[in-house]
Amino acid sequence: MAVRPVVIWPDERLRQPSVAIATVDASVRALYQDLVDSMYAENGLGMAALQLGDARRMFVVEPKLAGRPETDPPLAFINPEVIETSEEQQDSEEGCLSFPDVYVKVKRPMRCKIRATGLDGAVFEIEGEALFARCLLHENDHLTGKLLVDYVGPLKRQMIKKKLQKHKAADGDEVEL
Ligand code: NI
Repeated sequence: MAVRPVVIWPDERLRQPSVAIATVDASVRALYQDLVDSMYAENGLGMAALQLGDARRMFVVEPKLAGRPETDPPLAFINPEVIETSEEQQDSEEGCLSFPDVYVKVKRPMRCKIRATGLDGAVFEIEGEALFARCLLHENDHLTGKLLVDYVGPLKRQMIKKKLQKHKAADGDEVEL
């Protein structure tokens, strides 16, 4: 319905506790549409509601990453829970729309399983591997107030803060989650 500005760190709204969604009603569907529009506008792979300053417990992920056709609607994850993670890890650079042009090496499980409610109100489970698992765990982190800067030491965190203060909303084609 609308492209909304993405909340950029260190905005405190990114640290708000997220609130469970009781019913999938018209206002939740409107939020979904705003998340989708804003994610596509920024070339993101996923976006959590807190990144639009909305504390409802929901994120979206673009369909190709989930192995669906590009023309499918993005997946909605309402009240998600991580129910399984693999012992096998992956370690690579990660970006985030709330940290423009910042990349941080983050170690994450190679595979995960998530349970969530979809836009149709039905509970589903989905397994992700590699970049899809990384994206699911990254978006889920958002809902618990956890951010990229929580994976780095104080020096790098300071550097990132300086960089974002200088940042001028330049659009890139980088992979940001
Ligand atoms: Ni993010």
